[in-house]
Amino acid sequence: MNHFAAAADISGRADLDVVLRRFYTAAFADRGIGPFFTEIAGTDLEAHLPRITDFWERALFRTAEYRRDAFAPHAALNSARALTAADFGRWVQLWHATVDGLHRGPNAERAKAQGERIALALHERLAGPEASMASEDGLGFVPLAALELRSVA
Ligand code: HEM
Repeated sequence: MNHFAAAADISGRADLDVVLRRFYTAAFADRGIGPFFTEIAGTDLEAHLPRITDFWERALFRTAEYRRDAFAPHAALNSARALTAADFGRWVQLWHATVDGLHRGPNAERAKAQGERIALALHERLAGPEASMASEDGLGFVPLAALELRSVA
């Protein structure tokens, strides 16, 4: 393998499988957000992966169906332990790092931008519109998410 070859774009479900497996391995192991999966929800990764792959395949390529309620599990988590701006910032940071570590191109950019948008939307819906402005621990959403200066219109 040529280690200097340019990374290719995310091109379909097979690529998403690899990205998502790597992302959730990192997320489960993370000191900050890992316990939401491992301790609070008791998530079965092998059950979660096909659903989340459908979710992302639909979001990026419209080639899969996803008809489940993605908000409900986060509302349940948030009642068990509040999901903070820093938690969502960490999610976005791991998402960006995973995508950037494997891919480069327009779909990779869309995946990062959409992840960030959904994280912000989830946080605002759970914590109210003030959520994106500040957080209780001073680690706001934006500073962690802004790994690169770019617009996410
Ligand atoms: C700190 C942030 C987050 C945490 C801790 C978190 C955690 C979780 C957990 C524990 C579940 C339930 C899995 C299970 O046991 O069935 C879940 C489901 C889900 N998450 Fe997140 N999540 C976060 C952010 C996000 C974001 C930003 C997205 C958007 C891409 C997302 C997409 C989903 C989807 C689509 C499901 C539903 C899967 C299904 O159909 O059941 N999550 N999340």
